[in-house]
Formats: sequence, structure tokens, C-alpha cells
Amino acid sequence: MSTARDTVAFLGTGTMGEALLTGALAGGLDPDDVWITARSQEHVDALTASYAVHGTTDNATAASNARLVVLAVPPEHLTDVLAEIAGQTQDGAVIVSLADGITLADMEALLPHGVAAARAMPSLTARVGHGLTLLTPGSSCSDAQADAVTGLFERSGRVLRIAEDQHEVLSPLSSGGPAYVFYLADAMIEAGAVRGIPRDLARELVTEVITGSAAWLRADTDEVATLREKVCAPGGTGVRRIATLDRLAVRAAVVSALTQAPEGP
Ligand SMILES: NC(=O)c1ccc[n+]([C@@H]2O[C@H](COP(=O)([O-])OP(=O)(O)OC[C@H]3O[C@@H](n4cnc5c(N)ncnc54)[C@H](OP(=O)(O)O)[C@@H]3O)[C@@H](O)[C@H]2O)c1
Repeated sequence: MSTARDTVAFLGTGTMGEALLTGALAGGLDPDDVWITARSQEHVDALTASYAVHGTTDNATAASNARLVVLAVPPEHLTDVLAEIAGQTQDGAVIVSLADGITLADMEALLPHGVAAARAMPSLTARVGHGLTLLTPGSSCSDAQADAVTGLFERSGRVLRIAEDQHEVLSPLSSGGPAYVFYLADAMIEAGAVRGIPRDLARELVTEVITGSAAWLRADTDEVATLREKVCAPGGTGVRRIATLDRLAVRAAVVSALTQAPEGP
């Protein structure tokens, strides 16, 4: 974990911005080195009261006080916010976008010449210090700037530096991943409830199972299928329940959901 002192601005502090803020502060970032923005003054006031950071609705002011500027606004606001902060950033500042589908080239075209840009795709698990951030520093980033951005995200978890063209294929697993794990957890808790187990007890069991399974998965080099087989003795209830999942094409549905373009607009 990085211990380097750096000033940080989170422009937009909603679901993801607040998760990163929470994780980074717990990871040792000094609140006095942090600026946050939101659209409404009420939201800014609530955040500054909760976290003792500096806050404003003025993105340019926040950006001018930071070396690392994290754009955590909804993607449709990105262009406007970049225009607001253009010319207001410090020498050597790095602008980090979290917006899916907005390329480094898009960003660099909107930034004044020479301002460094990076693209990051974090996970909401940052809020509990177990984040996983896919990071691509732009070619405009020096090694020291890229390390500073890495250090910021490492305060709330792991960082994986990837090529920009890997974002599209990796982010459904990493950034979107908690949604699928929660989907399964929710279904398991529901199964418990159907059999009369109180939901809070079922949740406790499922949480321990997910935590233990993740620790086992990390510790063991066997294939994942082999680990599953260890839990499923031939002819036993476990293997027959997995057979039911296969008959319902759950595995195929998961592969399909995570690889095909999602339905809707
Ligand atoms: N949520 C995730 O799991 C996730 C995962 C990976 C990446 N991301 C990315 O993270 C970014 C933020 O997503 P989110 O889920 O955190 O969105 P969100 O919950 O809607 O939060 C957006 C925040 O931006 C603020 N905001 C909007 N326009 C602004 C402006 N012009 N200036 C300053 N602040 C402004 C909002 O302020 P108010 O609260 O005052 O309205 C709000 O605090 C997006 O690019 C998204 O793709 C999200």
C-alpha cells in the first residue's frame, strides 16, 4: 500500500466516489488532503460533515487544489466537467476518469495539451478496503504520476494495470462482479427462507460461505471445478443440486449474461 502523500479531488461523490473516498480514508489518506464535489450543496455538506474533507459544488476549485483529480460524475456529465476544470489544474496533475466507454483519446482531446490522463474502473468493494481497480495510465502520464494514481487506488484495495483495450472485457467481471455475487447470495438466502431459516441467520451463513470460498479459491491452485467436486461427493445431495442448476442452464445463463451485450436501451 502506498504511503505517499498526495492531494486528491473526487469530482462527483455519489455511489462510487463515496466508496473510493471511504476506502481511501480508511487506507490512510489524510482527509485534509481531500476535496470532494457534488451537484447539490446539501450533499456536499453531508459529506464534509461525515468525512471531515474539504467540499464544494465548484469542480474547478476542487480540481485546483489536487494533484490527483478523480472524475466520478455520471459519464454524460464528463465533458461538461472537463470543460469546467480545463486550465484550472495544477502542474503535474493527473485527471482520472471512471467512465465506462470514454477512451483516453476522448479525454486527452478534451484536456489542455500536456495534462496527464488515466482511465480507471474500480469496484464498489473499495468501500470495505477490498477494491479491485483496473487502471490504464495514459501515454501523457509519467511513471511517477502513474505510480501516484496506483497508490491512491491501492489505499482501498488492489490495482491491476491493464491495456486500454482490455477494459471492455475485464470490467464486467471486476467492477460488475459484486452484483453477480450478491445475486447468488440473495438467491441462497431466499432458498433458506423457503425452508424456514430466518433471513438474518441465512445471510450470516451465506456471508461466511462466500468469505470462506474466496479464501479457499485464493489459497488453492486446483481448477475451480476440482474444488467444486470436492464439495460434491458422487451420488450425494451436492452433486444432485448442481445437476439441477445445470438442467436449468444456470451456468450457460451466467456465461451468456456476462459475454453478450445486455438487453435494453
Ligand atoms: N456504481 C458503480 O458500481 C460503478 C462502477 C464502476 C465505475 N463507475 C463509474 O463511476 C462514475 C460515477 O458513478 P456513480 O455510480 O457513483 O454515479 P452516482 O451515484 O449517480 O453519483 C454521481 C455523483 O456525481 C455528482 N454529480 C453529477 N453531476 C455533477 C457535476 N456536474 N459536478 C459535480 N458533481 C456532479 C452527483 O452529485 P449529487 O449527489 O449532488 O447529485 C453524485 O454525487 C461513473 O462514471 C460510473 O460509470 C460506477
